[in-house]
Amino acid sequence: MSGSPVTLAEEATLAALLRCCARELAGPGARTEGPYLTLRLAGTRLRVPAGGGLALRFTGPAEWLDGDAWRPLGVDRLVRLVETELSTPDGGNEEFAGQVAASQDAIAAMAKARLDAEPPADPWLASEQALLFGHPFHPAPKARGGDDWLAYAPEAHAAFPLRLLAVRDDVVVSRGETAVLDGLGDAPPGYTLLPAHPWQVELLGGALAGPLGDGRLLDLGDGRAPVTPTSSVRTVFEPESGTCLKFSLNVRITNCVRKNAWYELEGAVALTALLDPVFRDLSARFPGTRWLPEPGYRSAGLGTALLEGLGVIIRTGPRSAVSPGVTPVLSGALAAGHLPPACRADPVAWWTAYVRRVALPALDAYLTHGVVLEPHLQNVLVGLDADGLPAEAVFRDLEGTKLLPGPESTAPPGPESTAPPGPESTAPPGPENARFPGRPLPAALPAEVRAALTYDAERGWNRVAYCLFVNHLAEIAATVAHGTGLLPELWATAGRVLTGYAEGHGRAGRLRDLLGGAPLPAKANLSVRWARSADRAAGYVPIGNPLRPSGTSTR
Ligand SMILES: Nc1ncnc2c1ncn2[C@@H]1O[C@H](COP(=O)(O)OP(=O)(O)OP(=O)(O)O)[C@@H](O)[C@H]1O
Ligand SMILES: [Mg+2]
Repeated sequence: MSGSPVTLAEEATLAALLRCCARELAGPGARTEGPYLTLRLAGTRLRVPAGGGLALRFTGPAEWLDGDAWRPLGVDRLVRLVETELSTPDGGNEEFAGQVAASQDAIAAMAKARLDAEPPADPWLASEQALLFGHPFHPAPKARGGDDWLAYAPEAHAAFPLRLLAVRDDVVVSRGETAVLDGLGDAPPGYTLLPAHPWQVELLGGALAGPLGDGRLLDLGDGRAPVTPTSSVRTVFEPESGTCLKFSLNVRITNCVRKNAWYELEGAVALTALLDPVFRDLSARFPGTRWLPEPGYRSAGLGTALLEGLGVIIRTGPRSAVSPGVTPVLSGALAAGHLPPACRADPVAWWTAYVRRVALPALDAYLTHGVVLEPHLQNVLVGLDADGLPAEAVFRDLEGTKLLPGPESTAPPGPESTAPPGPESTAPPGPENARFPGRPLPAALPAEVRAALTYDAERGWNRVAYCLFVNHLAEIAATVAHGTGLLPELWATAGRVLTGYAEGHGRAGRLRDLLGGAPLPAKANLSVRWARSADRAAGYVPIGNPLRPSGTSTR
C-alpha cells in the first residue's frame, strides 16, 4: 500500500472489511478464479486479486460488477452491501457504518501523525507501535472511543508521563507483589502511590472529585519518566522499573471497553501463581518458552467503579524474560512485514524455527496442562537471536488465559463470594477443592474469579486453534512467503513439525484432527459487531485448513 494517509486508510479499511465478508458472509461462494478472489454479496459480484492463503492479501484494487463492467469498489459501497446482506425485516444496525468510518478516520489520523513522529529506538517498543492497520479481519480494527486518543496512541509513537495518585492507606487495595510501584514517586506518610493512566484520569473526571476532595486520594501530578504505550494502548512500558503496567481505560478499543474488572485483577495474580509450574515445565521441554507473569495489582477501595477504573496490573517486562542477546519483537509487527534479513535469506528455516518456538508450547499448554493461552499476534513476542532467528517465544496477557477443568473438578465448590475485594482484604490460600491438570485452584478465590478463569474444553480448543493458526501462523506464513511461491511448502513444513509433536503425545486427538484436514475455526468479528454482542460471545466460522495433507486450501 502506498499514498497519502487518507488513501492508505481507505485501502486498509476496504481490505479488512472485504476479508471479513469473504470469511464470514460469502461462505463457499468465495472462491479463487485465476488471480482473483471472487464472491457475491447481497446479489452483487465482487472480485479482487488475492494471494496469501488464509490471510487473503490483496494485490490489486477490488471491483464490483455493474452490468457487464467491473468498477472500482469503495468502502461506502461495500458497507451498503454488508448492510443489505445482513439486515432483516426486524432491523439492521444503524451504528455499523459509523464504526467503520470512525476506524478509517482513526487510521488516517494515525498515519498522518506518524509522518512527523519518531519511532522508539528500542526495537521491541518500535514493534509494539508498528500495528498501523491493526487486526486484518475486523470491520473496524482501529475503533477508538473518546476524543483524546491520539495523544496516547502507540500508532502515533506517543510517549507521556503517568499521573501519580496516592491512596490513603486505609483504602488501598493491593494484591501480590506491588513494591515496584513505590519507586515511581514519593507518596506522603499514610499514603501509597497509585500510578494512573492520564487518559483514564480524564475519563473518570468527576468520579474522582469526592475522594480527591476529602483526602482519600491525592493528585501528585505527573510522573518523572515518560512511558511508552504498547500495541494494546492501555498497557504501557515504564522504563525506570523495566515493567509493563496494564491500566483500565473506560473507552472502547476495537472490541471492548478496556476495563480491568475486579475479578480480572484478582484472576491475573492468581493465575500468575498457578502458571508458574506450567511454564517451568513448558520451558524445560520446549526450550525458549517464556512468559510475562502478572505478580500483583494495586487500586483504591472506593467502590467497584473506581476499584476497577484505577486498578493497575504489574506485568514483568519482556527484557527481563528473554535471554541476554535475544531481542523480543511483537509477532504482529513481523506479520505486518517487519521481518529480519535472516528470514529473507532462508525463509523455510526461519519459519520452521518460528513454528517450533511458538506453536509447540502453545499447543502443549492446552494438551498437557489444560491451559488455554490466547496466542494471537498481539499477545506473543518472538525473541530473535543475534542472527535474527526465532530463539524464544514470550506469551503474555493473562486476561485471555484460561484453565480447563480437569477430571477432578467435580468436587464441590468452596465458599463463594459475590463482592469485590474491600480495602486490605486478603485472599489466603484455602484448601484445594478444584483441580486443573497439575494445579489446584485455591478454594478461597471468589466464584466470579474462578468463573472468569475457566473455559470448557471445546471453547478452549477453538480459542487456541483460532489464535494460533488463523490469527497468527497464517499471517506470518503469508508475510514470509510473500513473493516467493513458498506458501505450500511452509505449511507442509509446519505439518511435519506438528505431526512429530502429536505422535509423541498421548492426548493430541484434536491436533491430529487438524493435521488430518479438519476445518479451522475463525472468529467472526464482523458478525459479532453487527449483532452488537459482547466480544466474548463471538462465534467461529469453519474455514479451509492449509495443514490438510494435500495442501489444496492454500491459495
Ligand atoms: N491480529 C490481531 N489479533 C488480535 N488483536 C489484534 C491484532 N492486531 C491488532 N490487535 C489489537 O490488539 C489488541 C488486543 O487486545 P487484547 O485484549 O489482547 O489486549 P489487552 O488485554 O487490552 O492488553 P494486553 O495485550 O497488553 O494484555 C486490540 O486492540 C486489537 O485490536
Ligand atoms: Mg493482548
